[in-house]
Amino acid sequence: PIRRFTAPQIAARKGQTPIVALTAYTAPMAAMVDQHAEIILVGDSLGMVVHGLPSTIGVTVEMMILHGQAVLRGSQRAMIVVDMPFRSYEESPQQAFRNAARIMAETGCGAVKLEGGARMAQTIRFLTERGIPVMGHIGLTPQATNTMGGFKTQGRDEATWPAHIQDARAVEEAGAFSLVVEGVMEGLADQITQAVAIPTIGIGASARCDGQILVLDDMLGLSGRVPRFVQKFGDLGPRAEEAIADYADAVRTRRFPGTDQVYR
Ligand code: KIV
Ligand code: NA
Repeated sequence: PIRRFTAPQIAARKGQTPIVALTAYTAPMAAMVDQHAEIILVGDSLGMVVHGLPSTIGVTVEMMILHGQAVLRGSQRAMIVVDMPFRSYEESPQQAFRNAARIMAETGCGAVKLEGGARMAQTIRFLTERGIPVMGHIGLTPQATNTMGGFKTQGRDEATWPAHIQDARAVEEAGAFSLVVEGVMEGLADQITQAVAIPTIGIGASARCDGQILVLDDMLGLSGRVPRFVQKFGDLGPRAEEAIADYADAVRTRRFPGTDQVYR
């Protein structure tokens, strides 16, 4: 059997060739990403991308486990990281361990990710000391959208940079093996990358991060509006809609099914 990438292997990629990461929520998409990425994130963005929720706030542990299981089944090589959803870890390190351990045991994922810097350091330490690899996530943290007042790029005011760098250092010192840096000014992302010895995975951050991640559906052009930091590497949405319109027309005009699609 092919071994998956491990947390120590990812951690050792600091300053090496860029780490390729993407999200996936289903087995067939995971199988495709698995051919090309070292990390597949089962992001809580699935609440918005797959389930039509207005934010990630309503995502549950059960949803993360169900999609995590699908992604594990569809892949064999990438490290699978599963997001801890809002309200599954913020109360206490014990609550976080209970839910993270359940996610790891029921999905077989290699690590969990949780949002927050210094304020989550004690929790990250509690998990990593008990056998749960943790990926950090700082900068724009979507689960805090209500306190941030929306999805806002962080670090526009340079006076806030030291606090963000302290967050990165706190996550590293707590034992995280890597760190997502989302939606921050490029210069801040560069300073964070230089400030920590663990790989930074950028999204809306900097080309000099140790890796990059995007939401798969966004980069495939399957989502409607996407943030400015997304490059659409594909245009699948309009093509899928064309195919659906073709099908509807073929049914209405009795061009489908044709002779090849019926048993005689
Ligand atoms: O939920 C998610 O997809 C994420 C990535 C965008 C980092 O957290
Ligand atoms: Na997320």
